[in-house]
Amino acid sequence: MLDELKKLEKTALVALGQVDTVAGLDAWRTEHLGKKSLLTTTLRGVGKLPPEERPVVGKLAQEVKTALEDALTEARERVLALEQERAAKAERVDVTLPGRPVSLGRLHPVTQTLHRIYDIFAQMGFQVYRAREVETDEYNFQLLNMPPDHPARDMWSTFFTTRDGILLRTHTSPGQIRTMREYCPEPIRVILPGRCYRYEDVTARHETMFYQVEGLAVGRDITMADLKGVLAAFAKRLYGDDRQVRFRCSYFPFTEPSVEVDIDCAICGGEGCRVCKHTGWVEILGAGMVHPQVLRNGGYDPEQFTGFAFGMGPERVTMLKSEIDDIRYFYSNDLRFLAQF
Ligand code: PHE
Repeated sequence: MLDELKKLEKTALVALGQVDTVAGLDAWRTEHLGKKSLLTTTLRGVGKLPPEERPVVGKLAQEVKTALEDALTEARERVLALEQERAAKAERVDVTLPGRPVSLGRLHPVTQTLHRIYDIFAQMGFQVYRAREVETDEYNFQLLNMPPDHPARDMWSTFFTTRDGILLRTHTSPGQIRTMREYCPEPIRVILPGRCYRYEDVTARHETMFYQVEGLAVGRDITMADLKGVLAAFAKRLYGDDRQVRFRCSYFPFTEPSVEVDIDCAICGGEGCRVCKHTGWVEILGAGMVHPQVLRNGGYDPEQFTGFAFGMGPERVTMLKSEIDDIRYFYSNDLRFLAQF
């Protein structure tokens, strides 16, 4: 009996030496000190021993119990330290590892172009003015010399709404009238950026929604020379000093005379290619001197005031600058395209 108790103590202590987790400690305690352990059963059985053995066995069993309990307390300290060390190792931050890149958002390519256009015109004294996207037939057409059924309306395919006379603007030019009516009789130098809508088949060159930047200058003694100077300066700032600029006769109902402005094709250097449709030139904007009737519609006396206006498409500008061959890329939200700007 006494030998057995000694053996039991030894086995338990060896087993304890191998425990290295808190969970292991709990298991060890149940096994060696728990209710069903050999030691507890032995202690309980002391009363049934012959009277002369009882004190010796009882004393030794008690001593073994105390020894195991002390050993457990000590082991607990050792195991806790071990666990802490393990945790510290597992959670350690290696400051020499390369960081994870944060992916930055950016402005849409057309917005970037708009900002570039604002900058250039700001340097020439033009302020940004915003006009509405939902317009009336009167502002979008009539006040710009296009009465109902006038054939010039065929230049624009229009989204009419179910409310009579209300439509999505087909160009930013109605903003000319709104600006004039607000500022008359002050002189004006503004650009009007914003979305326009046309009821069109979507193709590589046409979207149903696109941007325009309108420009308007009204004052005394403004001439065609001012129009040419401002637009040539703008084209060279935007596309580069070595670009050639040419003015071609054109027609718009609300300007007289009207022009279209081309730059020589940067892609083929004027030789002729697909982008310039083998002409060596690409159109960048429409413009003209504000028609006297339009000045009158805006509140200005055409005997005293003159002005010029122009309109351009920032998508076209971006396409030319970045050699993009399909306008649909801009609004199809494909990050592989957008992330390149
Ligand atoms: N509004 C015209 C268009 O959409 C462009 C333009 C603007 C022409 C101003 C002349 C003057 O095509």
